[in-house]
Amino acid sequence: MLKFFKKKEKRPKSKKEEGPGPETATIAPTTPEDNKDAEPSTQIGQRNDIKRVIAVISGKGGVGKSTVSSLLASALLAHGYTVGLLDADITGPSIPRVFGVSGGSMGKNDYGMVPRRSRKGLKIMSLNLFLADEELPVIWRGPRIAGAVKEFYSQVDWGTLDFLILDMPPGTGDIAITVLQNIALDGAVVVSTPQDLAFTIVRKAFHMLNKHEVPVLGVVENLTSGICPHCQHEVELFSGGGIKQWCEEKQVNYLGSLPWDAGLSYCADRGHIDNYYPAAVDQMLEAFLAALPVIENN
Ligand SMILES: Nc1ncnc2c1ncn2[C@@H]1O[C@H](COP(=O)(O)OP(=O)(O)O)[C@@H](O)[C@H]1O
Ligand SMILES: [Mg+2]
Repeated sequence: MLKFFKKKEKRPKSKKEEGPGPETATIAPTTPEDNKDAEPSTQIGQRNDIKRVIAVISGKGGVGKSTVSSLLASALLAHGYTVGLLDADITGPSIPRVFGVSGGSMGKNDYGMVPRRSRKGLKIMSLNLFLADEELPVIWRGPRIAGAVKEFYSQVDWGTLDFLILDMPPGTGDIAITVLQNIALDGAVVVSTPQDLAFTIVRKAFHMLNKHEVPVLGVVENLTSGICPHCQHEVELFSGGGIKQWCEEKQVNYLGSLPWDAGLSYCADRGHIDNYYPAAVDQMLEAFLAALPVIENN
Protein backbone atom coordinates (compact mmCIF):
# COMPACT_ATOMS: atom_id res chain seq x y z
CA MET A 1 0.00 0.00 0.00
CA LEU A 2 1.50 3.33 -0.98
CA LYS A 3 0.19 5.46 1.81
CA PHE A 4 -2.62 5.57 4.28
CA PHE A 5 -4.46 8.51 5.72
CA LYS A 6 -6.29 9.42 8.83
CA LYS A 7 -10.05 9.35 8.87
CA LYS A 8 -11.64 12.73 9.07
CA GLU A 9 -15.05 13.86 10.18
CA LYS A 10 -17.59 14.28 7.39
CA ARG A 11 -17.97 17.81 6.16
CA PRO A 12 -21.14 19.16 7.81
CA LYS A 13 -23.91 19.74 5.30
CA SER A 14 -24.67 23.35 4.55
CA LYS A 15 -28.16 24.80 5.07
CA LYS A 16 -28.71 24.54 1.35
CA GLU A 17 -27.97 20.82 1.45
CA GLU A 18 -30.56 20.24 4.16
CA GLY A 19 -33.40 21.69 2.11
CA PRO A 20 -35.89 19.51 0.29
CA GLY A 21 -34.17 17.50 -2.40
CA PRO A 22 -35.60 16.67 -5.80
CA GLU A 23 -38.24 14.01 -6.11
CA THR A 24 -36.69 10.64 -5.47
CA ALA A 25 -36.44 8.02 -8.13
CA THR A 26 -36.85 4.47 -7.00
CA ILE A 27 -34.69 1.94 -8.73
CA ALA A 28 -37.04 -0.72 -9.97
CA PRO A 29 -36.36 -4.13 -8.42
CA THR A 30 -35.40 -6.62 -11.06
CA THR A 31 -37.77 -9.41 -10.07
CA PRO A 32 -41.39 -9.28 -8.91
CA GLU A 33 -40.25 -11.39 -5.93
CA ASP A 34 -38.40 -8.37 -4.61
CA ASN A 35 -41.63 -6.42 -4.23
CA LYS A 36 -43.06 -8.84 -1.68
CA ASP A 37 -40.79 -7.72 1.11
CA ALA A 38 -41.08 -4.03 0.37
CA GLU A 39 -41.18 -3.20 4.14
CA PRO A 40 -38.97 -0.14 4.49
CA SER A 41 -35.90 -1.10 6.47
CA THR A 42 -34.43 1.35 8.94
CA GLN A 43 -31.08 -0.35 8.53
CA ILE A 44 -30.56 0.85 4.97
CA GLY A 45 -27.05 2.22 4.64
CA GLN A 46 -26.34 1.65 8.34
CA ARG A 47 -23.27 -0.49 7.70
CA ASN A 48 -21.67 2.10 5.48
CA ASP A 49 -18.38 3.54 6.66
CA ILE A 50 -16.95 5.37 3.67
CA LYS A 51 -13.75 7.23 4.47
CA ARG A 52 -13.39 9.23 1.27
CA VAL A 53 -15.96 10.11 -1.41
CA ILE A 54 -14.16 11.40 -4.49
CA ALA A 55 -15.89 12.63 -7.65
CA VAL A 56 -14.29 12.39 -11.07
CA ILE A 57 -15.68 15.27 -13.05
CA SER A 58 -15.05 17.34 -16.13
CA GLY A 59 -18.06 19.27 -17.28
CA LYS A 60 -17.53 17.89 -20.78
CA GLY A 61 -18.48 14.49 -22.19
CA GLY A 62 -16.11 12.09 -23.90
CA VAL A 63 -12.90 13.38 -22.31
CA GLY A 64 -12.22 10.23 -20.29
CA LYS A 65 -14.05 10.60 -16.96
CA SER A 66 -15.18 6.99 -16.89
CA THR A 67 -11.75 5.84 -18.00
CA VAL A 68 -9.97 7.83 -15.30
CA SER A 69 -12.54 6.77 -12.65
CA SER A 70 -12.01 3.13 -13.59
CA LEU A 71 -8.21 3.35 -13.71
CA LEU A 72 -8.03 5.23 -10.42
CA ALA A 73 -10.40 2.82 -8.67
CA SER A 74 -8.46 -0.18 -10.03
CA ALA A 75 -5.09 1.31 -9.04
CA LEU A 76 -6.32 1.99 -5.48
CA LEU A 77 -7.66 -1.55 -5.28
CA ALA A 78 -4.36 -2.95 -6.54
CA HIS A 79 -2.61 -1.14 -3.68
CA GLY A 80 -4.79 -2.76 -1.05
CA TYR A 81 -7.49 -0.15 -0.49
CA THR A 82 -11.14 -1.14 -0.35
CA VAL A 83 -12.88 0.70 -3.15
CA GLY A 84 -16.36 1.26 -4.54
CA LEU A 85 -17.18 2.79 -7.91
CA LEU A 86 -20.51 4.54 -8.33
CA ASP A 87 -21.52 5.12 -11.93
CA ALA A 88 -23.33 8.44 -11.58
CA ASP A 89 -23.67 8.84 -15.34
CA ILE A 90 -27.22 7.49 -15.26
CA THR A 91 -28.10 8.11 -18.91
CA GLY A 92 -24.73 6.97 -20.27
CA PRO A 93 -23.51 4.32 -17.85
CA SER A 94 -20.32 2.62 -18.97
CA ILE A 95 -18.68 1.27 -15.82
CA PRO A 96 -20.11 -2.30 -15.77
CA ARG A 97 -19.07 -2.87 -19.36
CA VAL A 98 -15.42 -1.84 -18.93
CA PHE A 99 -15.13 -4.20 -15.94
CA GLY A 100 -16.96 -7.03 -17.72
CA VAL A 101 -19.73 -7.01 -15.12
CA SER A 102 -23.21 -7.78 -16.39
CA GLY A 103 -26.64 -6.97 -15.00
CA GLY A 104 -29.43 -9.29 -14.13
CA SER A 105 -31.15 -9.82 -10.85
CA MET A 106 -29.56 -7.46 -8.35
CA GLY A 107 -29.39 -8.57 -4.75
CA LYS A 108 -30.53 -6.66 -1.73
CA ASN A 109 -30.33 -7.24 1.99
CA ASP A 110 -31.48 -5.44 5.14
CA TYR A 111 -28.75 -2.84 4.59
CA GLY A 112 -29.64 -1.94 1.02
CA MET A 113 -28.89 -2.86 -2.55
CA VAL A 114 -25.87 -5.10 -2.90
CA PRO A 115 -23.19 -3.75 -5.24
CA ARG A 116 -21.73 -6.02 -7.88
CA ARG A 117 -18.12 -7.12 -7.53
CA SER A 118 -15.63 -6.96 -10.35
CA ARG A 119 -13.34 -9.94 -10.86
CA LYS A 120 -10.74 -8.22 -8.67
CA GLY A 121 -13.16 -7.22 -5.93
CA LEU A 122 -14.13 -3.65 -6.81
CA LYS A 123 -17.67 -2.85 -5.63
CA ILE A 124 -19.72 -1.41 -8.51
CA MET A 125 -23.15 0.19 -8.66
CA SER A 126 -24.64 1.39 -11.92
CA LEU A 127 -28.08 1.76 -13.43
CA ASN A 128 -26.95 -0.47 -16.28
CA LEU A 129 -26.93 -3.38 -13.84
CA PHE A 130 -30.69 -2.95 -13.40
CA LEU A 131 -31.62 -2.77 -17.07
CA ALA A 132 -33.05 -5.85 -18.69
CA ASP A 133 -31.60 -4.64 -21.99
CA GLU A 134 -28.56 -2.41 -21.68
CA GLU A 135 -29.21 -0.97 -25.14
CA LEU A 136 -32.49 0.62 -24.05
CA PRO A 137 -32.09 4.33 -23.34
CA VAL A 138 -32.96 5.72 -19.92
CA ILE A 139 -35.39 8.53 -20.67
CA TRP A 140 -35.61 10.27 -17.32
CA ARG A 141 -35.82 13.90 -16.38
CA GLY A 142 -33.11 15.58 -14.31
CA PRO A 143 -34.65 15.23 -10.81
CA ARG A 144 -35.23 11.52 -11.29
CA ILE A 145 -31.69 11.00 -12.51
CA ALA A 146 -30.28 12.92 -9.56
CA GLY A 147 -32.56 10.89 -7.26
CA ALA A 148 -31.11 7.67 -8.64
CA VAL A 149 -27.57 8.87 -7.93
CA LYS A 150 -28.57 9.70 -4.35
CA GLU A 151 -30.04 6.22 -3.93
CA PHE A 152 -26.88 4.66 -5.29
CA TYR A 153 -25.00 6.53 -2.60
CA SER A 154 -27.22 6.15 0.45
CA GLN A 155 -29.27 3.02 -0.20
CA VAL A 156 -26.48 0.69 -1.25
CA ASP A 157 -24.79 -1.62 1.22
CA TRP A 158 -21.30 -0.36 0.42
CA GLY A 159 -19.93 -1.47 3.81
CA THR A 160 -16.50 -0.20 4.82
CA LEU A 161 -14.66 1.57 2.02
CA ASP A 162 -11.42 3.53 1.94
CA PHE A 163 -12.63 5.24 -1.22
CA LEU A 164 -15.90 5.60 -3.06
CA ILE A 165 -15.20 6.97 -6.54
CA LEU A 166 -18.07 8.73 -8.28
CA ASP A 167 -17.95 8.73 -12.06
CA MET A 168 -19.88 11.95 -12.60
CA PRO A 169 -22.23 12.66 -15.50
CA PRO A 170 -21.07 15.26 -18.03
CA GLY A 171 -22.12 18.86 -17.65
CA THR A 172 -22.44 21.46 -14.95
CA GLY A 173 -26.23 21.46 -15.01
CA ASP A 174 -28.87 20.42 -12.55
CA ILE A 175 -27.80 16.78 -12.24
CA ALA A 176 -24.23 17.58 -11.33
CA ILE A 177 -25.36 20.34 -8.97
CA THR A 178 -27.89 18.11 -7.23
CA VAL A 179 -25.21 15.49 -6.75
CA LEU A 180 -22.90 18.11 -5.22
CA GLN A 181 -25.67 19.33 -2.94
CA ASN A 182 -26.73 15.92 -1.74
CA ILE A 183 -23.57 13.88 -1.47
CA ALA A 184 -20.90 15.16 0.90
CA LEU A 185 -17.92 14.88 -1.41
CA ASP A 186 -14.47 14.93 0.15
CA GLY A 187 -12.76 15.99 -3.04
CA ALA A 188 -12.80 15.95 -6.82
CA VAL A 189 -10.46 14.93 -9.61
CA VAL A 190 -10.97 16.97 -12.76
CA VAL A 191 -10.38 15.41 -16.19
CA SER A 192 -9.68 17.32 -19.38
CA THR A 193 -8.25 16.82 -22.82
CA PRO A 194 -5.63 19.32 -24.02
CA GLN A 195 -8.06 21.37 -26.11
CA ASP A 196 -9.04 24.97 -25.53
CA LEU A 197 -12.72 24.13 -25.87
CA ALA A 198 -12.58 21.22 -23.42
CA PHE A 199 -10.57 23.15 -20.90
CA THR A 200 -12.88 26.16 -21.08
CA ILE A 201 -15.74 23.88 -20.09
CA VAL A 202 -13.59 22.25 -17.45
CA ARG A 203 -12.99 25.65 -15.88
CA LYS A 204 -16.76 25.92 -15.44
CA ALA A 205 -16.56 22.69 -13.46
CA PHE A 206 -13.88 24.31 -11.26
CA HIS A 207 -16.23 27.19 -10.51
CA MET A 208 -19.02 24.79 -9.70
CA LEU A 209 -16.78 22.80 -7.33
CA ASN A 210 -15.56 25.99 -5.64
CA LYS A 211 -19.11 27.21 -5.18
CA HIS A 212 -20.00 23.97 -3.42
CA GLU A 213 -16.80 23.97 -1.39
CA VAL A 214 -15.53 20.72 -2.84
CA PRO A 215 -11.70 20.60 -2.66
CA VAL A 216 -10.08 19.95 -6.05
CA LEU A 217 -7.41 17.29 -5.65
CA GLY A 218 -6.03 17.97 -9.10
CA VAL A 219 -6.32 17.63 -12.84
CA VAL A 220 -5.70 14.59 -15.03
CA GLU A 221 -4.95 15.42 -18.64
CA ASN A 222 -6.19 12.69 -20.97
CA LEU A 223 -5.29 12.02 -24.61
CA THR A 224 -2.19 14.19 -24.49
CA SER A 225 -0.52 12.33 -27.33
CA GLY A 226 -0.91 9.24 -29.43
CA ILE A 227 1.64 6.61 -30.25
CA CYS A 228 1.36 4.94 -33.64
CA PRO A 229 1.11 1.18 -32.98
CA HIS A 230 3.05 0.54 -36.22
CA CYS A 231 5.98 2.97 -36.20
CA GLN A 232 5.80 4.09 -32.53
CA HIS A 233 5.92 7.71 -33.66
CA GLU A 234 4.37 9.98 -31.05
CA VAL A 235 1.94 12.65 -32.27
CA GLU A 236 0.08 15.40 -30.46
CA LEU A 237 -3.63 14.75 -30.78
CA PHE A 238 -4.83 18.26 -30.01
CA SER A 239 -3.38 21.72 -30.28
CA GLY A 240 -2.81 21.93 -26.53
CA GLY A 241 -4.80 23.71 -23.88
CA GLY A 242 -2.01 24.89 -21.58
CA ILE A 243 -3.44 22.83 -18.73
CA LYS A 244 -0.14 22.21 -16.94
CA GLN A 245 0.73 25.88 -17.03
CA TRP A 246 -2.74 26.84 -15.83
CA CYS A 247 -2.36 24.40 -12.92
CA GLU A 248 0.96 25.99 -11.98
CA GLU A 249 -0.53 29.48 -12.10
CA LYS A 250 -3.58 28.53 -10.04
CA GLN A 251 -1.62 26.24 -7.71
CA VAL A 252 -3.77 23.27 -8.61
CA ASN A 253 -2.14 19.83 -8.56
CA TYR A 254 -1.39 18.38 -11.97
CA LEU A 255 -2.00 14.68 -11.37
CA GLY A 256 -0.52 13.48 -14.63
CA SER A 257 -1.36 12.67 -18.19
CA LEU A 258 -2.56 9.67 -20.14
CA PRO A 259 -1.68 9.23 -23.81
CA TRP A 260 -4.09 7.76 -26.31
CA ASP A 261 -3.31 4.08 -26.12
CA ALA A 262 -4.88 1.40 -28.28
CA GLY A 263 -4.09 -1.05 -25.46
CA LEU A 264 -6.39 0.89 -23.14
CA SER A 265 -9.31 0.82 -25.59
CA TYR A 266 -8.64 -2.87 -26.16
CA CYS A 267 -8.84 -3.65 -22.43
CA ALA A 268 -11.86 -1.37 -21.86
CA ASP A 269 -13.83 -2.71 -24.82
CA ARG A 270 -13.28 -6.28 -23.65
CA GLY A 271 -14.25 -5.64 -20.04
CA HIS A 272 -10.73 -5.88 -18.64
CA ILE A 273 -9.85 -2.26 -17.93
CA ASP A 274 -8.37 -3.41 -14.61
CA ASN A 275 -5.67 -5.27 -16.55
CA TYR A 276 -4.38 -1.97 -17.95
CA TYR A 277 -1.73 -0.69 -15.59
CA PRO A 278 1.08 1.23 -17.29
CA ALA A 279 3.50 3.52 -15.44
CA ALA A 280 1.30 6.54 -16.25
CA VAL A 281 -1.48 5.10 -14.07
CA ASP A 282 0.90 4.48 -11.18
CA GLN A 283 2.14 8.08 -11.45
CA MET A 284 -1.46 9.32 -11.42
CA LEU A 285 -2.18 7.23 -8.32
CA GLU A 286 0.90 8.50 -6.47
CA ALA A 287 0.01 12.10 -7.31
CA PHE A 288 -3.58 11.47 -6.20
CA LEU A 289 -2.51 10.02 -2.84
CA ALA A 290 -0.03 12.84 -2.35
CA ALA A 291 -2.83 15.35 -3.01
CA LEU A 292 -5.12 13.97 -0.29
CA PRO A 293 -3.88 16.52 2.28
CA VAL A 294 -5.75 19.09 0.15
CA ILE A 295 -8.83 17.56 1.76
CA GLU A 296 -7.38 17.70 5.27
CA ASN A 297 -6.59 21.38 4.83
CA ASN A 298 -10.08 22.35 3.74
N1 LIG B 1 -6.26 7.49 -23.03
C1 LIG B 1 -7.10 6.80 -23.78
N2 LIG B 1 -6.63 5.90 -24.71
C2 LIG B 1 -7.49 5.21 -25.49
N3 LIG B 1 -8.83 5.31 -25.42
C3 LIG B 1 -9.34 6.16 -24.52
C4 LIG B 1 -8.52 6.95 -23.66
N4 LIG B 1 -9.33 7.73 -22.89
C5 LIG B 1 -10.60 7.43 -23.23
N5 LIG B 1 -10.61 6.50 -24.22
C6 LIG B 1 -11.80 5.93 -24.86
O1 LIG B 1 -12.62 7.04 -25.29
C7 LIG B 1 -14.00 6.77 -25.04
C8 LIG B 1 -14.58 7.86 -24.14
O2 LIG B 1 -13.97 7.80 -22.86
P1 LIG B 1 -14.84 7.85 -21.52
O3 LIG B 1 -13.91 7.57 -20.39
O4 LIG B 1 -16.03 6.96 -21.64
O5 LIG B 1 -15.29 9.39 -21.52
P2 LIG B 1 -16.37 10.15 -20.62
O6 LIG B 1 -16.68 9.29 -19.43
O7 LIG B 1 -15.72 11.45 -20.23
O8 LIG B 1 -17.57 10.38 -21.49
C9 LIG B 1 -14.05 5.37 -24.43
O9 LIG B 1 -14.36 4.46 -25.42
C10 LIG B 1 -12.65 5.13 -23.89
O10 LIG B 1 -12.29 3.76 -23.88
MG1 LIG C 1 -18.52 8.46 -18.84
